[in-house]
Amino acid sequence: MKSEDPMTERIIELRDIKKSYGQVYALGGVNLRVDRGEVVGLIGDNGAGKSTLIKILSGVVRPTSGEILVRDRPVSGWSAARSREAGIETVFQDRALAVQQTIVRNIFMGRELTGFMGWLKVNKEIEEASRLMREIGFTSKVFTPHSIVGQLSGGERQGVAIARAIYKQAELIILDEPTTALSLTETAKVFHFVRQVRASGRSILFIGHNIHHVFDIADRFVVLDRGKVALTADRGEVKSAEELINFMEDVAHPGGLPGLHETGETGQRVR
Ligand SMILES: Nc1ncnc2c1ncn2[C@@H]1O[C@H](COP(=O)(O)OP(=O)(O)OP(=O)(O)O)[C@@H](O)[C@H]1O
Ligand SMILES: [Mg+2]
Repeated sequence: MKSEDPMTERIIELRDIKKSYGQVYALGGVNLRVDRGEVVGLIGDNGAGKSTLIKILSGVVRPTSGEILVRDRPVSGWSAARSREAGIETVFQDRALAVQQTIVRNIFMGRELTGFMGWLKVNKEIEEASRLMREIGFTSKVFTPHSIVGQLSGGERQGVAIARAIYKQAELIILDEPTTALSLTETAKVFHFVRQVRASGRSILFIGHNIHHVFDIADRFVVLDRGKVALTADRGEVKSAEELINFMEDVAHPGGLPGLHETGETGQRVR
């Protein structure tokens, strides 16, 4: 199996990560890994802990306890800076882009290419923006690096955010519900970008509510339930999106349907 291959590079691994807010455990001991070149689908109901997990991966929230390993090496003092150094970039929903600005300005925002006396290397930025747009599969002839992001569709905006993450040297791009507000056509665009990113050897953690979306794009699924991993399965181990949905309904309402797999408290692999 690909993910068990000893040659696979482990980008990041979380071990027994807990996060409590007062008496409430948002995460109650989560194990999660992302390897190079895979798309991991993270799913779970409202309040399952998805956002908390993303915030921990991006270093904006400190875990209460647990271990974080980058390329198999434990990291102490995990922070937003450490997360960036590890090549992790998160595209947070809604807050990602300045819609009144051009694509090129959005890609380089905060990291402008400057030369002598701090002058912007505008031509270099445009060249680089075109290259990034091509790399992620931005095939629309209508849009150039000068297009205003507000004129782009939802899926294309996700593409700009992904291009920006790649410019920031991301090895792992975390997409927080990137298709939630999108039509089928726009979702297909985002999937196209995600597949391009995977083909370039980068990894994606794809968070979603819509199991069908996650099912179509992910190589591996991780189901969170009330702060714990209830299931982790490779694509080949799950027959259909319905099987995943049934499983999630079963963990939400235990004792409902017989014959479904469970992993117990630690969230080990099923089977
Ligand atoms: N800053 C906070 N203070 C207190 N409780 C919090 C805080 N952040 C999250 N929680 C709690 O932790 C649990 C997990 O929340 P989280 O936002 O991670 O879930 P989620 O899976 O992202 O849900 P959703 O699908 O609704 O976005 C929830 O019970 C939530 O109320
Ligand atoms: Mg959330």
